Amino acid sequence: MQIFYLLFIFFHVELAIGLISVDLTHTIKSTNPVFPGLTPFNFTETRTSWSQDDSKMYYFKAKNTFITDEHFGTHIDAPYHGSNTSWTIEQIPFERLVSIQALIVDVSEKSERNANYPIEIEDLNEEAMKGATGYFVLLFYTGKSRFWPNQKDFAGGHTREELAFPGLSPQLASYLTTKYSGKLVGVGIDTLSIDPGSSKHFQAHRTLFEKNIYVLENVAALNLVLEHLKNQPQTFFAFDVLPMKIEGGTGAPCRLVARLEDSRRTGGKWFGFLIFCLVISTIGIALKAVYDLKYNPTKNFN
Ligand SMILES: *[C@@H]1O[C@H](CO)[C@@H](O)[C@H](O)[C@H]1NC(C)=O
Ligand SMILES: *[C@@H]1O[C@H](CO)[C@@H](O)[C@H](O)[C@H]1NC(C)=O
Repeated sequence: MQIFYLLFIFFHVELAIGLISVDLTHTIKSTNPVFPGLTPFNFTETRTSWSQDDSKMYYFKAKNTFITDEHFGTHIDAPYHGSNTSWTIEQIPFERLVSIQALIVDVSEKSERNANYPIEIEDLNEEAMKGATGYFVLLFYTGKSRFWPNQKDFAGGHTREELAFPGLSPQLASYLTTKYSGKLVGVGIDTLSIDPGSSKHFQAHRTLFEKNIYVLENVAALNLVLEHLKNQPQTFFAFDVLPMKIEGGTGAPCRLVARLEDSRRTGGKWFGFLIFCLVISTIGIALKAVYDLKYNPTKNFN
């Protein structure tokens, strides 16, 4: 029993030392860019002080109320958003959201040359995609997130006609759902929409939704992850998608977390030291067990 306990502790210490987390979420506020037609974000603050009837002591109390569209800020689109037989937010299986893997596809150079760049199959790194060991999400980095929260620079403008940003081509969406069905659980992008700004039929949305693949929009800080991975940019990392669990939700504000191996630490002297400690303690416990067995056989090892 003690051995398992120690292994458990060491495993967690190593994880804590070997991983760094990056928050891929924009902070929600009324100045966030929005897709035209969304219910505006309305945040009403209340600040009061209160006291017991007969006391002279006053206490501070803060409370806010907000009205939001489900598709505001960094958010998830549930497949039901565009496919009436697919999952709503609370129906997406938890294991498709938490402790999955993610891979970034960097299309920022091509996006600079074409305002509505349709991301193509050739932009994928399928060699890297083979490395998925379970459920995974593909995250497209177009570089547009650098302009957040300026709606004009980020999204082209405020009206449907003005919208301009890269997104998945219909061919790419179909290809992904066919070739990677069962493993690919979501697709994310750092723009307002997974379809290009000029899209009229939202074909990428619909194709993904029909196969119960969710969409993540307005993903933040992918550049930080790319920077961190610059010596090995085509690798999977651990990823969590944490939406509000809204019954019947077609979308929800969402916290996104990338958990990256800290190469400065893993494999370094700390890791070696921990392995050393683990080996020494295991030998110690084993010797103690043998000793007890020999000289104190009635002892209960639990
Ligand atoms: C925001 O909501 C509050 C409370 O419901 C309301 O009084 C206010 O008019 C709303 N503001 C806007 C700009 O819609
Ligand atoms: C889903 O939507 C389509 C198109 O509006 C409609 O024809 C169909 O009857 C709907 N199915 C269900 C199960 O609601």
